[in-house]
Amino acid sequence: MAQQADEGWVVAMAARLEDREALAAFAGDGGGSWGELQAAGRACPVLTREFWTARQRQAANLHEVSYRACYKPQLPRLFIERLTAPGERVYDPFAGRGTTAVEAALLGRRVASNDINPLSALLAAPRLAPPEPEAVAARLAAIPAAAPAGDGVDLAMFYHPDTEAEIRALRAWLLARAAGGAEDGLDRWIRMVATNRLTGHSPGFFSVYTLPPNQAASAAKQRLINQKRDQTPPYRNTRELILKKTLQLLKGLTGEQRANLERAAGSARFLTGDARRTPGLEDASVALTVTSPPFLDVVQYAADNWLRCWFNGLDSAAVAAGITMARKLPAWSAVMAGVLAELHRVTRPGGHVAFEVGEIQGGTLRLEEAVLPLGLAAGFEALGVLVNQQAFTKTAHIWGVGNNEAGTNSNRIVLFRRP
Ligand SMILES: C[S@@+](CC[C@H](N)C(=O)[O-])C[C@H]1O[C@@H](n2cnc3c(N)ncnc32)[C@H](O)[C@@H]1O
Repeated sequence: MAQQADEGWVVAMAARLEDREALAAFAGDGGGSWGELQAAGRACPVLTREFWTARQRQAANLHEVSYRACYKPQLPRLFIERLTAPGERVYDPFAGRGTTAVEAALLGRRVASNDINPLSALLAAPRLAPPEPEAVAARLAAIPAAAPAGDGVDLAMFYHPDTEAEIRALRAWLLARAAGGAEDGLDRWIRMVATNRLTGHSPGFFSVYTLPPNQAASAAKQRLINQKRDQTPPYRNTRELILKKTLQLLKGLTGEQRANLERAAGSARFLTGDARRTPGLEDASVALTVTSPPFLDVVQYAADNWLRCWFNGLDSAAVAAGITMARKLPAWSAVMAGVLAELHRVTRPGGHVAFEVGEIQGGTLRLEEAVLPLGLAAGFEALGVLVNQQAFTKTAHIWGVGNNEAGTNSNRIVLFRRP
């Protein structure tokens, strides 16, 4: 189902495209390669098709950690497999839950990951060192059950008093271990899983029914939800739920994947900061970046993160203040210009950047058209725009951008190369 997008920059690029069949061949599994396309001098093609389907290629369960506006592992995998060799470094400056890093590590690549939100590293890094479930069970059993005195934060609308006491005890213990320098891989794993189990809409979560796990309701909103549903928080056994989720995350992990993760963990970089300034990464050290920046003002990261921040002893207001929330395109573009300049610095010659943007404002604003000139100005050449058009089904797990009116979802990825 190859079709061309039809506006602005995209039109200009498509016009330069002579042999559409060669592109269709690339888009299919059988033929073509980036090298061949480049060699044929076809700059900036637009490929529109379903590059992957949910069923086509199963992703590792290890990815199943929810985060607002995350993408599917198939997206980074498409580029990692085609554009890097094992051992090369793959980077994501807007890492979120760490989809790029985890997928790259599973595939035997070295990884670097950055996000201004400190929750990102807390969620991503532990999955490069998955523990044995028995060790998790033993650690959970050893954590003292006594809850510390309340801290003034009212959580009664989310949790049964006994569940809340367990959560507070776990929180206090994890924070004390970290503060005392005693935190180890098991603590980090438990912290990651517990952060993900805090709230959600099924009995697999610690809370009474609430919004999906990546969007914490405010206390006031939760009271309303409880009223409307005539519900009071039931008891949930937090240790059992942490163990259950641990088993789910580890299910199907192969020996080869474990070995790849372990190797990647040894050299992984997890940075917490603004994507425009990453002194923790050397010049020309990255073979491939796969990333998805914050889109204009569509996601309220601060409001969505308050409970996760509380659990991890983070100030959600301070976290929110750093997150790019540009409401207008010029402000967004100014930030992305800085990001692309920094990516040019860290990308090795011949390395690539796959920059995923969504269709926003009902498809009227195509951010790839804004990103292309910024990448060129930063010194990249633009190889093409890939539009992953996915037929919408109810069970399809979406990409954080809403379903558009045509009943499809699209990811729009600008692919750059550093000459
Ligand atoms: C669309 S999400 C990325 C999701 C990610 N692809 C995943 O699969 O989880 C955008 C991320 O950018 C982060 N962010 C926003 N402004 C930033 C900035 N100036 N520098 C670094 N990260 C930033 C947000 O915290 C958020 O995690």
